[in-house]
Amino acid sequence: MIKHEIAVIPGDGIGNEVVPAALNVLNAAAEVHGGLSFKFTEFPWNCDYYLKHGMMMPEDGLRTLQSFEAVFLGAVGDPAKVPDHISLWGLLIKIRREFEQVINIRPAKYIQGIVSPLVNPNDFDLIVVRENSEGEYSEVGGRIHKGEDQMAIQNAIFTRKGTERAIRYAFELAAKRRGHLTSATKSNGIFHSMPFWDDVFKEVSQDYPDTRTASYHIDALAAFFVTRPQIFDVIVASNLFGDILTDIGAAIMGSIGIAPAANINLNGKFPSMFEPVHGSAPDICGKGIANPIGQIWTAKMMLDHLGHQELGQQVLDAMEATIFSGIKTPDIGGKASTQEMTDDICSRLKKL
Ligand code: NAD
Ligand code: IPM
Ligand code: MN
Repeated sequence: MIKHEIAVIPGDGIGNEVVPAALNVLNAAAEVHGGLSFKFTEFPWNCDYYLKHGMMMPEDGLRTLQSFEAVFLGAVGDPAKVPDHISLWGLLIKIRREFEQVINIRPAKYIQGIVSPLVNPNDFDLIVVRENSEGEYSEVGGRIHKGEDQMAIQNAIFTRKGTERAIRYAFELAAKRRGHLTSATKSNGIFHSMPFWDDVFKEVSQDYPDTRTASYHIDALAAFFVTRPQIFDVIVASNLFGDILTDIGAAIMGSIGIAPAANINLNGKFPSMFEPVHGSAPDICGKGIANPIGQIWTAKMMLDHLGHQELGQQVLDAMEATIFSGIKTPDIGGKASTQEMTDDICSRLKKL
């Protein structure tokens, strides 16, 4: 019997609705496998925890998480209670940084049965590799001066190591897929970082002569995501560019509620973390209508990461079959609840 020890942080808002849903699917998947089980250990770290304890997680929180094989997280942020910069730097970004989860993998593809806002959504299938540790998301800077001269400065930091690592990861991934890699740049003289990014991209590409490459300015690239997403296979992007592109990726699939993500630690020193692209959705929290697909597809990515690719594919198949049958939450045009959708996925999985 293979047993996986997973740390679970539902977090805020709909994280508390979609995480239990995805755990049900993971348990159903384990049953289908037969020789697999999960031990989920839940941590109540969120904005309510902050209001009680003055911090988003205990002092030794990271040390506690470190002994797990993976972290499964819902969403962090409840701006009505705690300012986002406190909750996010105190939990989500802290884990990504301290656990050196330097790559964020975010797939998007056309799913039959979900109405995409695109005129021609047919068969796009792409993965954004987002640099996840530096770039525009730097801690260097802050507000300075008061009064009339006040300003805010944020230094974008692009290290050779971090840039090359993300680009190389993306080349490796493209080689396993359709052999095409697009670089998201903005090298037209505005940001000092981007000509540097381009140089590293060009240099690393020498090691992958069989991979076709393209490079677009991020503004044009964002537009191409909408007008012709079919031209993309793998896209490599800096932290902020990747963040924005992947919400567009979610939007062209039909809802932010279905996009998955994996924060990957490459050096094996710390666990990787699996959390969907969407946030805590305070506007629909408590209604039981949150789309569980983003979290369930994220669970599929965790299964892949733990070495259960075949089972992961079965979860994806069951999920797509449920959607195709019309059992859908309101954000993708249906009337089903989170629970109804989840139950249907679990029962399809068990029938496979
Ligand atoms: P959001 O993703 O929470 O919500 C944006 C819109 O999408 C809302 O209308 C919401 O109802 C809808 N939506 C999101 N997920 C959905 C789902 N599963 N099913 C159906 N509809 C869904 O983004 P926001 O409103 O910008 O942020 C809300 C809070 O979440 C903020 O505190 C923000 O910082 C945080 N946030 C956290 C993460 C994370 O933890 N990874 C990601 C993004 C935002
Ligand atoms: C995401 C989110 C986070 C990010 C926020 C909540 C800090 O938008 O995971 O996409 O910008 O990385
Ligand atoms: Mn985002």
